[in-house]
This record gives sequence, structure tokens and C-alpha cells, in this order.
Amino acid sequence: MDKKYKILFVCLGNICRSPAAESIFRDLVDRRGVSGQFEIDSAGTYGGHAGELPDSRMRAAAAKRGYRLTHRSRKLCVGDFDTFNRIVVMDHSNYDDVYQLAPTAAATDKIVRMAGCCKKFPVDHVPDPYYRGQEGFEYVLDILEDACENLLAALLAQ
Ligand code: 4NP
Repeated sequence: MDKKYKILFVCLGNICRSPAAESIFRDLVDRRGVSGQFEIDSAGTYGGHAGELPDSRMRAAAAKRGYRLTHRSRKLCVGDFDTFNRIVVMDHSNYDDVYQLAPTAAATDKIVRMAGCCKKFPVDHVPDPYYRGQEGFEYVLDILEDACENLLAALLAQ
């Protein structure tokens, strides 16, 4: 039986926040030597960027920290609720959209907020950097690094 813990990061376009979260989380599990225990992916609630690489500004900001973002954007689908154990959303609007798509109460129980894992940053959501300057991307990466670290620690402690 496949015992991997399957985690899906979700934002709006799947070209900025969630592919960055996916790479940061993957880098962490690799460095901890637990990559065999996880399957990691990301998706967007909006499919308008499907097939695209992450936004070039996010790729550049992530590359400076050693993360290579190669994910191709895809739209979240109802089957993801069967596939994944956890669906981690970036903001309130993502939460509402994912909640609307969830087919069962058990599926809604899989939805968690990325900001809820933050310890260093007093945020209740991961802000959308798409219409902001370069420092918006750096800020998002700071938040995601903090949140991913705590999320992984919580999962490994389960
Ligand atoms: P993301 O950022 O949800 O973090 O991938 C966005 C990407 C694209 C758009 C908005 C936010 N858009 O409006 O196309």
C-alpha cells in the first residue's frame, strides 16, 4: 500500500505562491532525508495559467535562495480531494474556492491555511504578490519558508 503523505499547495494562479511553497517544502523534506515519505504538488483555483512555468519574478526571487521552480501550472480538480491528505491554501479567497469545490465533509477537513503554520510572521494569509513589486515576492518567500518549516515539523511529529 502507498503510505506516502500527499500534500497539495493551492493558490489562485499556481504561478507564484503555491509552486514556491511546493519547492520550499520539497527542499526541506530532501534536506531532512524524508522525501520518500511525501508526495508534493501544487495547483490553482483559476486555470488561466495552466501549462505555464511559475512567474519569472517568483522564479528569480526563489533562485536567489536556491529553489528551482519547474512546476507547470494546473487547475485544482475535485479528484484532488481523493488523492491528497492535505490541501494547504494561501489566502481566504483560496479557502472559500477550495471549500466550494470539496465534495464531502471529509474533503473539507483536508483544507488547512498556510498562514496558520507561521511562527515568525503574524499573518493570517499569504498575500498575493502578483501585482506587487519585487519585495512582495521576497516577503512571500519569507512567509513560506517559515510556514513550511513548521508544517513539516508538525507532520513529522504526528
Ligand atoms: P498566485 O498569484 O495565486 O500566487 O499564483 C497570481 C497569479 C496570477 C494571477 C493572480 C495571482 N492572475 O490574476 O492572473
